[in-house]
Amino acid sequence: MNREKTPAPFDVTELRQQFPALSQRRDGQVCVYFDGAAGTQVPHRVVDAVCRYLIETNANHGGVFATSRESDAILEAARRLLAEFLGTPDSDTIVFGPNMTTLTFALSRSLMKTWKPGDEIVVTDLEHDANVTPWVLAAREVGVNVKSVRINAADGTLELEDLHSKLSRKTRLLAVTCASNALGTVTPIAEIVHLAHQVGALVFVDAVHYAPHRLIDVMAWDCDFLVCSGYKFFGPHVGVLWGKREWLVSLPCYKVRPAPDEIPYRWMAGTQNHEGIAGLHAALEYLMEIGHRAHPEPSTPRECFAAAFRAIQEHEQELTKVLLEGLAALPEFKVWGISDLTRLRERVPTVAVTHRRLTPKELAEFLALRGIFVWHGNFYALPVTQALGLEPDGLLRISMVHYNTKEEVYRLLAAFRELRD
Ligand SMILES: Cc1ncc(COP(=O)(O)O)c(C=O)c1O
Repeated sequence: MNREKTPAPFDVTELRQQFPALSQRRDGQVCVYFDGAAGTQVPHRVVDAVCRYLIETNANHGGVFATSRESDAILEAARRLLAEFLGTPDSDTIVFGPNMTTLTFALSRSLMKTWKPGDEIVVTDLEHDANVTPWVLAAREVGVNVKSVRINAADGTLELEDLHSKLSRKTRLLAVTCASNALGTVTPIAEIVHLAHQVGALVFVDAVHYAPHRLIDVMAWDCDFLVCSGYKFFGPHVGVLWGKREWLVSLPCYKVRPAPDEIPYRWMAGTQNHEGIAGLHAALEYLMEIGHRAHPEPSTPRECFAAAFRAIQEHEQELTKVLLEGLAALPEFKVWGISDLTRLRERVPTVAVTHRRLTPKELAEFLALRGIFVWHGNFYALPVTQALGLEPDGLLRISMVHYNTKEEVYRLLAAFRELRD
């Protein structure tokens, strides 16, 4: 008899049971959370970890007594696991902060001190504004020019030719996303980093929207900085900045005098959201558990994350396929971004649409009445909606994550068909 273990299938029903929010009812209906890009729900263990931290180890950093030591051990463990999650062996390069936007503003203040008039920075039209305005404001203060890379309106991808033409020896920084929170496009990030490095520019990667869907790999990508945000990948509201050690050590930063000069602490202004960091650690353990199930043999945390994202990607692609096939049969809807079913690897399951007659807000209201939660507007991806000529109404965004199901997609499509009547 063949006793070889076969990988456990991705069991979405079982995983959903770990998320208390997913069984909530409103007006008698079970809610459908298609708002993952704006913030995901959390598994029970995250809630437990936050509570446990506050009950058992609530203390400030660096004390010699039990709770402070235990609290520091929790923060250290979270940093180590985040290093595995991002693909670096160096946990000192993991910086916590309130959220991506605040961390990006702080880094922009530091980086601008290394720029001089006549230098250039490059951003893209595919960004969330948090990866544009901090750089634009910093550039303005020191007389640096800003260029933005165009997107292809037909499929929401970055125009790589345009990127090529905008990079030059004057470019000091390229700020670029690895997945669009509006259109779902995944960018060829390693190739982009390589192009920027060829002209001597640093690369700052916004991985906020990528983190719940695919495996981040800062070493393989060779970027200089990367940011993500815990509440987008099943954890609490905690921002994370990673930077190459050489930059985190050498760049000037804004810190108060008694704060340590060592990394990562010199970058972490004030007291952090300790209970949130404890919760983020639990969210990473949840992802590792998905990997453990999908992976037949005991493995390292990094292998678990890799296996988890393989399983997640497969499930999410199936959801995207069902949604895009359903939308293709509804010609009153237009999909913005990649809709070609043979190109699903180039996108995450974030699908933006407009309707021939109804505004995105009207559509979102119609769905909300049916217990389906989606976002409308620009989701702060203002460069995208401006580039596509979609302001002020923006888009309707159906953003799925691995805990969503095909049945939920069918429910959405049925609601869209109801609109016809
Ligand atoms: C792609 C992307 N970048 C940046 C941000 C900003 O993140 P935060 O809310 O942590 O500041 C968001 C939030 O929606 C996002 O989706």
